[in-house]
Amino acid sequence: MEIRKIRLDKFLADFGLGSRKEVKKLIKRGYVSVNNQILTDPSIHVDPEKDQIIFNDQIISYKKHHYYMFNKPSGYITAVSDEIYPTVMEFFYELPFSKKLFPIGRLDIDTEGLLIITDDGQFAHRVAHPKWNIEKEYYAVVKEDVSQLNLKKYEKEGILLRKDRYRTKPFKIEVISSSNDKSEILIIVTEGKYHIVKKIMEELGHPVLYLKRVRIGSLRLDKDLETGEFRELTDEEIKNLKRLVNL
Ligand code: URA
Repeated sequence: MEIRKIRLDKFLADFGLGSRKEVKKLIKRGYVSVNNQILTDPSIHVDPEKDQIIFNDQIISYKKHHYYMFNKPSGYITAVSDEIYPTVMEFFYELPFSKKLFPIGRLDIDTEGLLIITDDGQFAHRVAHPKWNIEKEYYAVVKEDVSQLNLKKYEKEGILLRKDRYRTKPFKIEVISSSNDKSEILIIVTEGKYHIVKKIMEELGHPVLYLKRVRIGSLRLDKDLETGEFRELTDEEIKNLKRLVNL
């Protein structure tokens, strides 16, 4: 990609390091070096593809957008900020461009598992939009024995959530194990309605005891990514997700 030379302060502000004013101050105070030379003039022009720009010992490498796989722990809300609860974005503060990042879609405070964190608005909008029917797969532990449910029916018709007067889209359930006490299932839904899995399981008479998202479309949560950890998506993973939403 051809990138023209750009003012240093604009580049760092676009990158997400802070406002233009904040970035100017950082440059003037000598926090930024270009090709191993500290530069204190914010108006200098740089080529982010060729010049090595370092802020506070971190190389600022140019990427238009960033995409992360995050394993959300319970106890954090899926929002950029909140007055009461800690948010999932707390795990990203260390990144210099963290101010531009946000989560796609929403997991409940007590739900664990896969969240995509990005700064790509168009991509996020599409992945979250019901029109694209992106599958979301959850591992759930639910109350009591689910082995008698007529699962084929829900794959065709969804279910009427009587309290909400809303019929869900078709969904799939695979039973992993079941006992009198509780069952383990995988449930695949294609909608992002508030509490959708909990509501479906409640309607079926098997309330959710534990919920973890394990897949969004073509992207499966790494087994060895601990809760609270994140990693960048590979180019292949980004390409496959984008294909699902026609990007
Ligand atoms: N469905 C729910 O009920 N909760 C979630 O966090 C996600 C899907």
